[in-house]
Amino acid sequence: MSSSPDPQAAARAAFIAPETRFLDLPRPLPLEQGGELPVRVAYREWGKLDDRGENCVVVCHALTGSADADRWWTGMFGPGRALDPDQDYVVCSNILGSCYGTTGPASLDPRSGQPWRGDFPAITVRDMVRAQRELVRQLGVKKVRLVVGGSLGGMQTLEWGFSFPDLVEAIVPIACSARHSAWAIGISEAQRQAIYADPRWRGGAYDPADPPAAGLAAARMMAMVTYRSMPSFEQRFGRRAQAADLFAMESYLRYQGKQLVDRFDAATYVALTRAMDTHDVSRGRGEYEEVLRGLRLPALVVSIDSDTLYLPQEQEEIARLLPGARLARLASIDGHDAFLIDVDWLSDQVAEFRGRAVQRRAGPRAPAPERTAATSGPGEVSLLVLGTGKVGSELLGQLARQRQALERDYDVRLRVVGVADSRRTLFDEAGVDLARWRELLDAAPPTGPFALPASRPLLERLARLPRPVLVDVTAAAGMPALYGEAFALGADVISSNKLPLCGPTAEREALFLARRRHHRSYQYETSVGASLPVIDTLRSLLRTGDQVAQVEGSVSGTLGFAVSELQRGRPLSLVTRWARELGYTEADPRDDLSGLDAARKAVILARELGLTVEVEQVACRPLVPAAVLPPGDMQELYESLRSHDGAALAEAERLSRAGRAMRYLFHIDVARGEVRCGPEELPLDHRAAGLHGVEAYVAFTTERHAAVPLVVQGAGVGGALTAGGVLEDLFQLCVGTGAR
Ligand SMILES: NC(=O)c1ccc[n+]([C@@H]2O[C@H](COP(=O)([O-])OP(=O)(O)OC[C@H]3O[C@@H](n4cnc5c(N)ncnc54)[C@H](OP(=O)(O)O)[C@@H]3O)[C@@H](O)[C@H]2O)c1
Repeated sequence: MSSSPDPQAAARAAFIAPETRFLDLPRPLPLEQGGELPVRVAYREWGKLDDRGENCVVVCHALTGSADADRWWTGMFGPGRALDPDQDYVVCSNILGSCYGTTGPASLDPRSGQPWRGDFPAITVRDMVRAQRELVRQLGVKKVRLVVGGSLGGMQTLEWGFSFPDLVEAIVPIACSARHSAWAIGISEAQRQAIYADPRWRGGAYDPADPPAAGLAAARMMAMVTYRSMPSFEQRFGRRAQAADLFAMESYLRYQGKQLVDRFDAATYVALTRAMDTHDVSRGRGEYEEVLRGLRLPALVVSIDSDTLYLPQEQEEIARLLPGARLARLASIDGHDAFLIDVDWLSDQVAEFRGRAVQRRAGPRAPAPERTAATSGPGEVSLLVLGTGKVGSELLGQLARQRQALERDYDVRLRVVGVADSRRTLFDEAGVDLARWRELLDAAPPTGPFALPASRPLLERLARLPRPVLVDVTAAAGMPALYGEAFALGADVISSNKLPLCGPTAEREALFLARRRHHRSYQYETSVGASLPVIDTLRSLLRTGDQVAQVEGSVSGTLGFAVSELQRGRPLSLVTRWARELGYTEADPRDDLSGLDAARKAVILARELGLTVEVEQVACRPLVPAAVLPPGDMQELYESLRSHDGAALAEAERLSRAGRAMRYLFHIDVARGEVRCGPEELPLDHRAAGLHGVEAYVAFTTERHAAVPLVVQGAGVGGALTAGGVLEDLFQLCVGTGAR
């Protein structure tokens, strides 16, 4: 059957990190259950393979995970951690049969040119491991120091040991069994039946544009229940209602189901759960216990005491039978998922097993009957907020309002542990009372602006807390050094501050290098267009292989506001004063009127496109002559603007009579590597001519969006909008990656 294009293919492609590499295996892979398959493998690598090819570490992901181990297992990476790219060459590939770049049911069947879907040949965990073995062979690997993974990743880890005992030096199987139990097979089958029961499944020949979404969501909901534990759900949701006819627990599951539908494929889910059911390390190798006793590799077997999917007795059995194994028990109420939650503990265990010096961090969390502000929990995030101006104060208000919902619906517990402005810093590990932050900050002793080296001790305190995040909503200079220190200490950074992104290229590159080196996140969507998804859209175009030719836009809220008010006959001096009072301008409106702010934003986007450009190289024409923007205080600026009001209004009048509009635009020409910005006269049917007030837009002309550009448009300035964008960045940081 021929089918419509798969709209979710783009969503899945967007889930694949830009650093992903692809390798077509040189020969078709013979499959354990018969036949052979040409295979492409998507993989990520961290660190460098040594000259002898002997420092490889293989990370295996779980059911719906991807090759991006640094995103879903961030805390395992770094100096002194379980996976240290300074010493290890770490490889994680998307597993055979998955849908994030490696051949699977969502890939095209070369015979029909259509996705395989339900016709994909049956695969096993052993096949997945043999595809990975071929990958590392092609990469020049001669020895695998360690294989590590949890859940389905743990099953692959064991298979690596049994399939290639002479290649592998040690294994760490986590939260898994050596053969799928009747219990686990039953859970898989119930989930598959939910998919089959969806009429859109059509026996596996579903239309990719109309997939069995309800069935897949139901399967995911069942799975989610098995990934946690009864006490963890009791503690988080209890019998609390979300709405009159909706328990919070129901709402949580529905959300989880929808999330998976947006990024996964039904036939893939069926193929991978079937592969899990075939998992049995003894198949074809002999009697089960004897087979296990025969593997002499050093092994650290990790068990979670509340795991109801792969029960602790299954890992105890593996550890008892493998002669070189020892067992590590994680005490947690979080069930199966704890291997993705108590990552510091896990990293310490693995590092110690590998004979590395371990810097002890927080231990595993004991079951806690009740959460207090000071206890740590799943998805816990510790925030230090720098800046309490228009964006910062809004952000603290939104955090206070949204915190409960984020915890209830998304598993994220946000705790603001610090707040700073340019004079004081308030810091409290137990959490700042968000109803009184202003009063508490005013009462804190003066410390001066948050900056290095004076603030290093506070950064260190932040870094000792669960999932530390530095939030910069200042317009302060000198932040790259602070971010670099935060990355080194293990904190992520979210920032609406443009300056670190548009300073000298060398400084920006050093900052991004530090981020990569320490495997941290740096989110800055709001630096261009406030809450509009400008950078996200650009990145998704790039990572799906589109070629961006031109970017054009109006991204200065102040200039947008100014020119549309001018058009209505309002004097520029007055309009500038209003814009400043409304919080639309930079601290100094001269940065807007001179075009500097627009040039900075254009440079941020140009650099995302890979262009090497400095702000000083932008061909930038100011909105008003430079002479009208003398240095001095605000009063002097307004006086000077007043002297220009007549000319500005006359110009607006002339344009209006000519049936044209003036807008301040920027342009990026990728082929020429040029960036320019300035006021432009436009016909009234130009998209920008229709912008009102602080409305911004960015239009991307690309190979795929050639005739009609892809446009992001909406209000592009304001404290509340920007704070909402910062919150979304925070959400993406904590929730936006799938691991299991
Ligand atoms: N407002 C918007 O619509 C918007 C949109 C997109 C992006 N942004 C960006 O977001 C950032 C914040 O904007 P805003 O409008 O909130 O600015 P703002 O009102 O001028 O507030 C800046 C805040 O930063 C504080 N600060 C300055 N240096 C500091 C330091 N070293 N440590 C700690 N705090 C420090 C200031 O403290 P004091 O109160 O003591 O002066 C002030 O509270 C800027 O980078 C801006 O470009 C803003």
